[in-house]
Amino acid sequence: MLLLGIETSCDDTATAVVRDGRIVLADVSTNQDAFHAKFGGIVPEIASRQHLALLSAAVADALERAELSLAMLDGIAVTAGPGLVGSLVIGVASAKALAFAAQKPLYAVNHLHGHIFAAFIERDAEPEYPFLALLVSGGHSQLVHVDSPVAMHVVARTRDDAAGEAFDKTARLLGLPFPGGPAIDRLARDGDPAAIAFPRHRAERDALDMSFSGIKTAVKYFLESDAGRAARPQDVAASFQAAVVDVLIDRLDRAARRAPYRAAVLSGGVAANSALQAAFLAWSERTGIPARIPHLRYCTDNAAMIAAAADRQGAAVLADARTLTANPNLPFVLPGPVQAV
Ligand code: KG4
Ligand code: ZN
Repeated sequence: MLLLGIETSCDDTATAVVRDGRIVLADVSTNQDAFHAKFGGIVPEIASRQHLALLSAAVADALERAELSLAMLDGIAVTAGPGLVGSLVIGVASAKALAFAAQKPLYAVNHLHGHIFAAFIERDAEPEYPFLALLVSGGHSQLVHVDSPVAMHVVARTRDDAAGEAFDKTARLLGLPFPGGPAIDRLARDGDPAAIAFPRHRAERDALDMSFSGIKTAVKYFLESDAGRAARPQDVAASFQAAVVDVLIDRLDRAARRAPYRAAVLSGGVAANSALQAAFLAWSERTGIPARIPHLRYCTDNAAMIAAAADRQGAAVLADARTLTANPNLPFVLPGPVQAV
């Protein structure tokens, strides 16, 4: 299948053309960071206006780079949720119009499923089912049990902040630019992860829940203390990062003991983090469970992952080009087959 992917759930205006859910013929992303940076976070109204201004050109650009016309595609895949409603609406309206005009199937993809299937893009070694996905982004931190492309459920999630949110908020405390994850990652390279013992969220025995707001608050109080004022920012960044990574790997390890997983996938924007990748690979070595990490380019938001998910989910995410609506709270579990009465 040759699919056009459209992703506008947050602040990246992204389009892609993907063959068979794994070969990327075009990958276009217009990063809006410059528009949001001065506010220290994403401003939803600005994001949706930027999508509106950029999306048509991004679609044309993807088709041109793939050297294809709309008529040559087998379908259009769009992120239908979750995300910022004003942003989602722009992508969904555009995908509906394209699908309707070209009379092509329309696939409504869950953004989080997209992150999981990013691990299948341009990789020879694909995850085998069932696999466990550690999905860590700006809006979500969860562990997902994946039996097949259409059968998956969340086994653990954060009680409060997402891991990416903790990175962004902590970066702000350190006076680093937005988005904070990459900035902390870079700064931490010259720091000592054992310099400051920030608290790790402890879960009850056998529990899988996680929490990241405590680490962020601990950094805040530390920076206000005498020791904090004297500390090297590199050490604070590395120690904070180590605390987040420890919690994520601890819960991953606990979850992995619950089922005979044949692979573990690390995905979402925070999967780009170098310390987390290193810890994830070390854990894989220890447990013998093969680790699958998307190429860096496909860790953060992109449209290729949306096409990759649609390719594998097929009929389960087929939508009506006249009636599809964006859903900022799109449920994670796909509806089961409709039972005949
Ligand atoms: O998946 P994503 O692009 O968008 C959402 O769906 O949220 O994730 C964005 C998040 C941001 O919080 C950003 O700071 C974080 O991913 N991030 C990182 C790194 N690169 C991006 N966090 C830690 N280290 C990184 N290298
Ligand atoms: Zn995302």
